[in-house]
Amino acid sequence: ALRGSFASKAQKADQRTQYHLQPQASYKVAVLGAAGGIGQPLSLLIKMSPLVSDLHLYDIANVKGVAADLSHCNTPSQVRDFTGNSELANSLKGVNVVVIPAGVPRKPGMTRDDLFNLNAGIVKNLVEAVADNCPDAFIHIISNPVNSTVPIVAEVLKEKGVYDPKKLFGVTTLDVVRANTFVAQKKNLKLIDVDVPVVGGHAGITILPLLSKTKPSVSFTDEEIQELTVRIQNAGTEVVEAKAGTGSATLSMAYAAARFVESSLRALDGDADVYECAYVQSDLTELPFFASRVKLGRKGVEAFISSDLQGLTEYEQKALAALKPELKASIEKGIAFAQKQT
Ligand code: NAD
Ligand code: LMR
Repeated sequence: ALRGSFASKAQKADQRTQYHLQPQASYKVAVLGAAGGIGQPLSLLIKMSPLVSDLHLYDIANVKGVAADLSHCNTPSQVRDFTGNSELANSLKGVNVVVIPAGVPRKPGMTRDDLFNLNAGIVKNLVEAVADNCPDAFIHIISNPVNSTVPIVAEVLKEKGVYDPKKLFGVTTLDVVRANTFVAQKKNLKLIDVDVPVVGGHAGITILPLLSKTKPSVSFTDEEIQELTVRIQNAGTEVVEAKAGTGSATLSMAYAAARFVESSLRALDGDADVYECAYVQSDLTELPFFASRVKLGRKGVEAFISSDLQGLTEYEQKALAALKPELKASIEKGIAFAQKQT
């Protein structure tokens, strides 16, 4: 009897395992820079998604072990590793979402723009391969300086004749994650309820949290607004300094990037209620690229939430005016870099 009941339990467990091993959807995701500080925890979080059938991990080194390790998790997706330029094309074939955290992170005393010379070329090279192998994919750019790398990617895709502005995203989800956390802490709100749109770009004063648009509606003193805005704008530097030369945000970034991947997959899968902030080609302002809340659908950006930019407070209006020259210069720097290379 003992044997019998054990057998039936084992059978049940086996059925459950098989059930769990069926993905709920069959999307392929590639992470370029998968062995890095962001790449590893991000790949782990994507491995947990029931919407992913294939997870392709690409890096110039050390990716074999990361893939072997992750492949033992009993979640649906198949993990494959790809190392070096000769395997880049294969890592991208048939992929629906490409996430790019490849590149060098900041050390204390550096700005994100100080990474331009190293990371611009890395991103350009990777996106040329994306254009050749999965031109229809959603492209998520994490590599800094995002304000410039996204315009570079747009130029590369244009040059290749495959640019779809609705499918190119600079990942600014971490700014929203931080804003939500800091506001919930300061105002003693339930974290799950708090949503703060963050617009502009992803560096210093170009990061503009619209605290007046916080949901649920909440009032702030002038001091609170100043303190929260500056903390959100400098949160990346807060982590860079705490890590004291060993890098920048990796774990919170992986969390934020995984949220953006999951939102993209839900949108691809037909969910009609997916909204995220992202740095995208935009006509909400006179700048060609601008981060704002967007509605995501099967074809990428479906709509811009322009109402976020209406009825701004005086503080927000001034901050918006102040960020535009810096963001414009970063966009132009990216475009000039890409055009010089062609
Ligand atoms: P890291 O150095 O730990 O990892 C980078 C990885 O990229 C390494 O594994 C490296 O081998 C790989 N790499 C380098 N050149 C490559 C190439 N040509 N092709 C493929 N892979 C390549 O750095 P990290 O902490 O993971 O940060 C990565 C980038 O993300 C940095 O530029 C950082 O500034 C940026 N970042 C952005 C945000 C954001 O909010 N958008 C947040 C945090 C970090
Ligand atoms: C962040 O916001 O944490 C990233 O952009 C990394 C950095 O350099 O601050």
